[in-house]
Amino acid sequence: MKFLVVGASGQIGRFFMKAVRPPDEATGTFCHAPPGARVYGARKAPPKLDITDAAQVRAVFERERPSHVALCAALTHVDFCQEHPEQAAKVNVEGVRNVLEACAAHASKLAFFSTEYVFDGINGPYGENDEPRPLSVYGQTKLDAERLLLGSALAPLIIRTTVVYSFLPGSKNFIMQLADHLRRGRCMNVASDQYSHPTYAPNLAAVALSLIGAGKTGIYHVVGPDYMNRCDFALKAAEILGFDRSFIRPISTAELGQKAPRPLRAGLKTDKLARELGPALTGVEAALREIRLQLKDPNAA
Ligand SMILES: NC(=O)c1ccc[n+]([C@@H]2O[C@H](COP(=O)([O-])OP(=O)(O)OC[C@H]3O[C@@H](n4cnc5c(N)ncnc54)[C@H](OP(=O)(O)O)[C@@H]3O)[C@@H](O)[C@H]2O)c1
Repeated sequence: MKFLVVGASGQIGRFFMKAVRPPDEATGTFCHAPPGARVYGARKAPPKLDITDAAQVRAVFERERPSHVALCAALTHVDFCQEHPEQAAKVNVEGVRNVLEACAAHASKLAFFSTEYVFDGINGPYGENDEPRPLSVYGQTKLDAERLLLGSALAPLIIRTTVVYSFLPGSKNFIMQLADHLRRGRCMNVASDQYSHPTYAPNLAAVALSLIGAGKTGIYHVVGPDYMNRCDFALKAAEILGFDRSFIRPISTAELGQKAPRPLRAGLKTDKLARELGPALTGVEAALREIRLQLKDPNAA
């Protein structure tokens, strides 16, 4: 397989690059991250690719001629999307359309990452066949992209996930933000009413590769096995990573005052994944223990 990983400078893209094993090859793209930013597994300088630029997308596909595409690129800042809906749609929907058209032109198989934010969080966890009802602009753009892909003749793989975390210095993922705050002795307000399934990025990347390798198409929910609220996740992380738990302040989502509404009782059911692939993702305790080792010795990452 010859992969093009679009958005390899992001969290999931990096771990996807890292998970690809020879004899498969992968080229990862970045958009705004400075050239030279570390893209795991890249053997050559990563190409710059802005998916909103259709000509650039066509040129990269023409050069790389991928058999498989992992589309990890998106505007993922949920509150930014809420305040900039046109920009969010430009990247998360029109950008996806450009990649879809290039995949069709080159007969490339497409795997796309989506989110539990397509659901309203009233009655989660949700199965693949439950009716989506996004609360936020971000969630709506991801659902619009899903529908665009499912309406095409391409038979894409759509992987919905959530609360993805990993050891990744400089990343804004929840655990790295938490570690950054607690290390400096700064308090962090954390929602105690947002329930979900924290998902360890290396596991997610490995499972995504397995699904692609098995030729799966359609929607798959890929999340970790533990259902918990953000605050309990933060407290568990502080305990295992060796930080002072008293700096974590439980707070309601209403009090947090985030710009975009969040699905509160969210989460994703993984019965389909377990049925077809077997139990695949590790729980938060094992993953956090791995992260503890990496925090102590970043070379172990
Ligand atoms: N992380 C989560 O908890 C989570 C949960 C559910 C779903 N997802 C989905 O999983 C996917 C990957 O998420 P992530 O956490 O890896 O996101 P991330 O860390 O924010 O990375 C986003 C990636 O998209 C790239 N990008 C942004 N705008 C672009 C554009 N116009 N053209 C091309 N590339 C662009 C970024 O490139 P530069 O940095 O170089 O600009 C970066 O590589 C997204 O589709 C997201 O919706 C993530």
